[in-house]
Amino acid sequence: MAEIARLEHIYKTYPNGIRANEDVSLSFEEGEIHAIAGENGAGKSTIMKILYGAELADEGDIFIRGSHVRITSPKVADSLGIGMVYQHFMLVNQFKVYENIFFGIERKNKLGILKTQEMIAETKKLCAQFGMSLDPEALTGDLPVGLLQKVEILKVLARGAKLIILDEPTAVLTPQESQELFRQLRLLKKSGKTIIIITHKLDEIKELCDRVSIMKDGKSVGCYPVKDISEKDISDLMVGGEVDLSLNKKPAVVKDVSLEIKDLSIQGRGNKLAVKSVSFTARQGEILCLAGVEGNGQEETIKALIGLGRNYSGKITILGKDIYKKNLAWVRKLGVSYIPEDRMKSGSDSFASIYENAISLTFSSHNLAGFIKAKPLKEKTADWIKEYQIKGTAKQKISLLSGGNIQKVIVARELGNNPKVLLADQPTRGVDISAAAFIHRKLLEMRDLGCSIIMVSADLSEVLALADRILVFHNGEISAELINNDKITKEMLGAYMLGLKKKEGEKEHE
Ligand SMILES: Nc1ncnc2c1ncn2[C@@H]1O[C@H](COP(=O)(O)OP(=O)(O)O)[C@@H](O)[C@H]1O
Ligand SMILES: [Mg+2]
Repeated sequence: MAEIARLEHIYKTYPNGIRANEDVSLSFEEGEIHAIAGENGAGKSTIMKILYGAELADEGDIFIRGSHVRITSPKVADSLGIGMVYQHFMLVNQFKVYENIFFGIERKNKLGILKTQEMIAETKKLCAQFGMSLDPEALTGDLPVGLLQKVEILKVLARGAKLIILDEPTAVLTPQESQELFRQLRLLKKSGKTIIIITHKLDEIKELCDRVSIMKDGKSVGCYPVKDISEKDISDLMVGGEVDLSLNKKPAVVKDVSLEIKDLSIQGRGNKLAVKSVSFTARQGEILCLAGVEGNGQEETIKALIGLGRNYSGKITILGKDIYKKNLAWVRKLGVSYIPEDRMKSGSDSFASIYENAISLTFSSHNLAGFIKAKPLKEKTADWIKEYQIKGTAKQKISLLSGGNIQKVIVARELGNNPKVLLADQPTRGVDISAAAFIHRKLLEMRDLGCSIIMVSADLSEVLALADRILVFHNGEISAELINNDKITKEMLGAYMLGLKKKEGEKEHE
């Protein structure tokens, strides 16, 4: 097969001194679906932005169909037939679908007047060609995520792209929507397009892709036909060693009720309710997962539990205490720990060291008569760094660590108080495979010690691996309550998440 694009010996250091790409060489063949795999921060997005002209390489060469090119902007990339769908969509909400698709390449007549009908017709044609159902005149801001992604893809196609790069396109999709996307990508491949898909989901690589290039620490570490490499091999190459992904989940030994929610309603944005009269209980010794597509009320629910929710009605009882109008500090004193989703904003103090972050909770209890007993705390921090294999020293500023290591500091701190209840909001989002597996084992350990864990996660593999019970949120309501056994599949959860199925499997609770 003919080579469509080749990157040779690319180097890129960002102005802040971070070297994102180091001697990266990659090659793409016409008509293939090619995965770029790698851990967070491996340099995948950077190298693809360089191919798309959105970042400039410091050194190295790019060849398109054998010709040496300089891709100095996305405009140049467009003209070479290269398009990219970013991880965060770049659409204008106030525009209609076709207006977004033709933004910057509007069709006009000689007088400069927009040829609206032509653009609408062209959009319809593209939709038909690639099996998408989309109303060209719908307002973009009204569309769900899955459709927004289609608009982004159409935008790229309308520019005549032959090579289409997608950056972690399934991160925001349900399993059903992912399948739909894969169907479309296969159609695109059939029509002769080349697809590059950035992903760290191993099952997707296996299912969809012809070849995979693996990146680690800014370097390219190999390219393989997918049929010749196992998922385990890919993950070992991503991590650079054997990864222990084993969990050893024992059956749950469920004890007393730890938390009770009755008729919880939470005000959302505008006049809408984010959570609508939701009731459930959680127990000591179980992991209860609140699953759902982001924005269906599960985040608001967990924030209310930790005393961060404001406008709510209903009753929340944690360990026998009503927490109405109480704050985070008060709830923590009950024996509740919290792993926040946004670790840089609310989980850690980025100006402080690992040590200061690690002890920030235990501080007061050691602060007898105004003295800080620094020695035991220092030892504790050192123990945590060792046990959690945190790559850093106690005195190091936490902001210099990678996301996975910051998360480990937070998890160590939150589990370090032996909480009775642990609220975990996306505990492994953006965390490396090995760190995520470690955190999962820690959570199971806590649950086996009798801790009651309530977890919000959009990652269905994580939900199925950890949960004892699953509450699926859809549109501010619980669309299903499921006991997690091997009959539960991602597709099943997806159907409840999308609201395609409802209330089946719900069971009464006392
Ligand atoms: N605009 C930027 N400025 C500074 N550093 C960046 C920028 N974008 C990415 N980085 C850093 O470069 C490294 C590689 O990032 P990225 O290419 O986004 O990796 P990946 O997509 O594999 O997760 C990371 O350490 C990241 O923090
Ligand atoms: Mg990325």
